Amino acid sequence: MATLPPPARPLVAPKVPPPKPRGTAARGFGATSRTTRWWAAPALQGTVFTICATYLFISGVLLTPLFNTPYEVDGYLSPLFSPLIVLPFLPAWFSPAILILWIPLGFRATCYYYRKAYYRFYFADPPGCAVGEPTIHRRFALENALPFILQNLHRYLLYLAFIPLFFLWIDVIQAFGAWDGGTPIHTPFQGTAHPQIGLGGVLLLLNTVLLTGYSLSCHSLRHLVGGRIDCFSCTRARRARYTLWQRLTDLNRNHMWWAWTSLITVTLADVYVRALQAGVIVDPAWVIR
Ligand code: FES
Repeated sequence: MATLPPPARPLVAPKVPPPKPRGTAARGFGATSRTTRWWAAPALQGTVFTICATYLFISGVLLTPLFNTPYEVDGYLSPLFSPLIVLPFLPAWFSPAILILWIPLGFRATCYYYRKAYYRFYFADPPGCAVGEPTIHRRFALENALPFILQNLHRYLLYLAFIPLFFLWIDVIQAFGAWDGGTPIHTPFQGTAHPQIGLGGVLLLLNTVLLTGYSLSCHSLRHLVGGRIDCFSCTRARRARYTLWQRLTDLNRNHMWWAWTSLITVTLADVYVRALQAGVIVDPAWVIR
């Protein structure tokens, strides 16, 4: 007897999302048999994330158009504005950071780690491991429908994320650049000018190192390098990929750490540049003569 072909998968998601599998957690928002303070980590993470994200939005999108505050001072460019793209035909209310910020913003918003974190502290979906969810989550389409289906763009945002990262390294070189009579000339190690080591340069360097670690520890990058291979030892190229995959795996184990430290330093680097520009602080710098 001829066997029937399997039913075709529907091409469009059903209008009513399927009920969520029941799982093993207790039912009811916050219900759990856990005795640990499971809520402490999401509460702390949600607070830090909200403070940093709100500040970065205000600084990157609103501050300069509203108050005309510079984002560059003494050779230090705020990482939110790097690479600096100034298009003369854009209106004054349009912050140049918008032209580039969508890349790191999209990269972070779709990051596998941040998804876990903000699904917990913003959506309580779930609030924690083995902790009950609100009943509103009984039916869900989450990453099968808009807007969360856009999470699948993460690997493409990873490729794009290396563009601003490249320019951030150039900014670091410029931050340690040459001074001539107290004026930064942005051409390090040239002529009679002297390179300088300032606190702002150290902060930009630290921020860029952490952002590099965050990008290189990405789960998608690890899969890109080491995934879809059946035999790691068959060819020289595959052995090289295996070695690289091992290095990325070492970084990937601490992806959460890279995620939080780089978010905090990017915020602090911008605060530092803004405060320096406003004259609130001075930059302790050592000029090498
Ligand atoms: Fe976090 Fe890719 S998984 S940046």
